[in-house]
Amino acid sequence: MRLKVINNVNAWARLLVAKGNVLTVMRRLRWRGARALGGAGAQWSWNDQFRTGYWDSLRTRSPNVVALVEQLAGGGDVVELGCGEGFLIEAVDSDSYRSYVGVDVSAVAVESAARRAGQAGLVKCRFEVGRIEQWRCDADTSLIIMEESLYCLKPRRQRRLLRRCLARLKPDGRLIVTVHSATRHRSTLVNCRRYGVVDREIHESERVILALRAHDEEAVTCGCR
Ligand SMILES: C[S@@+](CC[C@H](N)C(=O)[O-])C[C@H]1O[C@@H](n2cnc3c(N)ncnc32)[C@H](O)[C@@H]1O
Repeated sequence: MRLKVINNVNAWARLLVAKGNVLTVMRRLRWRGARALGGAGAQWSWNDQFRTGYWDSLRTRSPNVVALVEQLAGGGDVVELGCGEGFLIEAVDSDSYRSYVGVDVSAVAVESAARRAGQAGLVKCRFEVGRIEQWRCDADTSLIIMEESLYCLKPRRQRRLLRRCLARLKPDGRLIVTVHSATRHRSTLVNCRRYGVVDREIHESERVILALRAHDEEAVTCGCR
């Protein structure tokens, strides 16, 4: 009798796990479909992902990325494109930069980032809703960060954004790009290596962290300056 009850409980638990998995897969398909529509569909998709807590795991930051940001910010102006809920800048020593602007397409993420930065007293940080492919920088920047966001763009847009970012950096400025999988995002890494000069490269298992600087002729050819 006792064994039967245990077996039943196990069967129910397995069923619930399977149901949870199916629901997660369905949600992910819906998000992917909406993202493929672009525009408002993509915005809804990202907002829904943040609203349902899908990205809560991003609270844990890579110590390598945090250390790199602190080294490369150089006391200057930092921009993060696709900043999500602002977990990265929260982990960074605020003495390492003069100002920080985080840009993200998700209003839900930006609202959460601004609220938490306010609570943490990060007065040098500001967050904006915007599309990274349309981002325009109006001052020379010490450091631009694209942590797990560049590959969200189509290859042509990635290339355009990379060129624009590299052209807007100060002469000793740097661009940090991370991808969680070198295999899945191989073409993004190829674009980074083609348009920038790799200054630092860190591997955390499948994850790749690149610090890029501009080719010497970049500022002239892009026409952004
Ligand atoms: C995988 S999440 C990474 C978030 C954050 N960088 C982090 O590491 O915590 C990708 C982020 O890029 C943002 N994103 C995707 N496409 C975007 C676009 N076209 N313009 C602005 N943000 C975008 C998403 O809203 C999301 O916050």
